Amino acid sequence: MPLHLQDLAVPIVGAPMAGGPSTPALAAAVSNAGGLGCLPAGYLSAERFADDIAAARSMTSGPIGVNLFVPQPCMAGPVQLDDYRELLVPLARRYGVEPGRPRPDDDAWQAKLDVVADTAPDVVSFTFGCPAPDVMARLRSRGVLSMVTVTSRTEAQMAVAAGAGALAVQGPAAGGHRGVFAADAPAPEQGLSALLAQTVGLGVPVIAAGGLGDAAAVRAVLTAGAAAAQVGTALLLSDEAGTCVVHRRALRDKQFTGTVVTRAFSGRYARSLANAFTADYSEAAPPGYPQVNQITAPIRAAATAAGDPHGTNLWAGTAWRGIAGGPAADIVAALAGQASRPAGSV
Ligand SMILES: Cc1cc2nc3c(=O)[nH]c(=O)nc-3n(C[C@H](O)[C@H](O)[C@H](O)COP(=O)(O)O)c2cc1C
Repeated sequence: MPLHLQDLAVPIVGAPMAGGPSTPALAAAVSNAGGLGCLPAGYLSAERFADDIAAARSMTSGPIGVNLFVPQPCMAGPVQLDDYRELLVPLARRYGVEPGRPRPDDDAWQAKLDVVADTAPDVVSFTFGCPAPDVMARLRSRGVLSMVTVTSRTEAQMAVAAGAGALAVQGPAAGGHRGVFAADAPAPEQGLSALLAQTVGLGVPVIAAGGLGDAAAVRAVLTAGAAAAQVGTALLLSDEAGTCVVHRRALRDKQFTGTVVTRAFSGRYARSLANAFTADYSEAAPPGYPQVNQITAPIRAAATAAGDPHGTNLWAGTAWRGIAGGPAADIVAALAGQASRPAGSV
């Protein structure tokens, strides 16, 4: 039986967060708390992705969602990429590395689709575009609900027309990458509540995402017609998250006073804590995903290894202030407006 998102015991979806924060343990903890835990495929090999699904399944009998990046052509030319690479050489050398070399990469799209078809998780969500109708039809035949991340009414209509069974409606306050279909388009600024008014009622359940940091914010999107709230940033400090130490410290560090939407790190717009990297390189960065991501990767890795929060991406939504640590189950319960259960209670 395909999962009905309206029937989750707790209307919270743990966002898939590629690059480390989402672990099988985090996805399982969210599902064990009554929500829907999600595993990202982004940046992983297809084999590792399949292993993560198996690991999560060994920790929960609840529903599991997975997430794929839809491949897209690089929107920057070789000269733009070379110029950006050259610009980053002095910074890279300060960390003792060279910027990466751009190369074609579709993030193992076909192999990962095969993993989804073979393992048949309850939900697969897509971001950075809308898969072709036959892709979603194949997964539907395996009992997998396809959800497409959208940032506008037009994208929502395209996704429904292509056969999406649900929409992840992402507002501008979201942490991490914006899911906007056109890789070089500015991220839409329309607020989440206006976006919900335009996307609820298209015939498929809507999951609302972006800047949801407390129970009042979650209640507001449910009242607006969303079937559930998808939260990413709120889980970054949870015990089960794989968020690296530099990122965890920065989220609690008073020197960081705001977030910014930038393509400096990956070539695609994403929301990060504002740091020296975003200040120095946002203006020059070309719209070249994933090539810009490849160029900056050695710098980000070296900065992280050196414990320097100013040389790497620090993804965070606007509700990052005051996010809590502790077990993911407690964070989910607090977001859903439930009192957390005392340890040992049944
Ligand atoms: C660290 C981080 C990594 C993310 N990685 C992904 C990803 O791999 N796939 C995806 O669809 N969304 C990703 N997102 C976006 C989330 O799905 C979601 O839209 C966002 O977290 C919601 O906003 P919030 O962070 O304010 O809760 C990421 C978000 C964060 C914070």
